[in-house]
Amino acid sequence: MLEGQPLSQDVILITGGGSGLGKSMAQTLAQLGAKITILGRRQSVLEEAAQEITNATNRPSEDILPLPCDVRDFPAVEKAVETTAQTFGKITGLINNAAGNFLAQTEKLSPNGFKTIVDIVLNGTFHATLAAGRKMIQQNTGGNILNITTTYAWMGSAFVVPSACAKAGVLAMTRSLAVEWAEYKIRINAVAPGPFPTPGAWEKLMPEGMEDFAKTKIPLKRFGKHHELANLCAYLMSPYSAYITGACIPIDGGEWLMGGEFNHLTLTLNPEQRSQIFEMMRERQKSKKNHPKQNPPQKNNP
Ligand code: COA
Repeated sequence: MLEGQPLSQDVILITGGGSGLGKSMAQTLAQLGAKITILGRRQSVLEEAAQEITNATNRPSEDILPLPCDVRDFPAVEKAVETTAQTFGKITGLINNAAGNFLAQTEKLSPNGFKTIVDIVLNGTFHATLAAGRKMIQQNTGGNILNITTTYAWMGSAFVVPSACAKAGVLAMTRSLAVEWAEYKIRINAVAPGPFPTPGAWEKLMPEGMEDFAKTKIPLKRFGKHHELANLCAYLMSPYSAYITGACIPIDGGEWLMGGEFNHLTLTLNPEQRSQIFEMMRERQKSKKNHPKQNPPQKNNP
């Protein structure tokens, strides 16, 4: 754990910061002194998260700014960056954490299903990077951008083709801009988390009853804990990592060395089982979307 207030001069915007891992990162960065903007699609979720972060860190509530925004909408993202800079005087950091994903047999995927994920993950990351990067260049302050990618960005993985393609693009963006924007003193890195339990990721990516098996294919034999990822992100957003740019650090208990994240489903489930299970997960996702109140988010299980 980094101690003290190494981020006290920082203003960091986190996409998808109102829930799951994004919220955990926001809390850790706030604890270390940063002023934080959290972006997400639902105002009420963001406000609750901001309150939670304020309570947990004893920071003044005006240091945590919740802004509703869909990362697919570039003008809205630009406006959120502008509001952040106006509220806090500048923007020094961005974490591209917002994502969308689901398990699907690719032959059953619609072009719009593919596009939806690429729009959130790749275009959304580009939108926030472009808006925040332009602002950092204009401020002449330098800056720090962290992209949340995944180990299958370089491995590929069965059943998450849209996400694998989009995250591979994010990794290419990380390395390309690390070189291009170094002259503006903007660092750009990535982390590649393996399985970290959150209600969102588990609902979409963990078939029921497969948790124990999933652990067996991780050399460290357990899932990640939120604070472990948040600490790595804090390190990469801090001056402690001042000489690191263009890096992508896996944080997955060694899982990727054992094979792509969902490739094992080609062995552990037959096509009929896969079809049934993915369909069941999709129905659950739809019913949650239509009746959010009857399916309240579960508590994180770090
Ligand atoms: N399997 C196959 N296709 C799916 C799907 C699934 N589980 N879920 C959505 N789709 C397809 C839809 O059928 C639709 O395509 P169509 O118009 O050809 O039918 C397309 O994707 C868009 O779906 P829609 O529900 O309208 O999109 P949305 O913007 O409301 O939701 C998701 C986007 C699907 C990514 C949604 O799950 C989401 O917003 N997730 C964010 C959080 C998240 O995924 N967290 C986990 C990250 S690890």
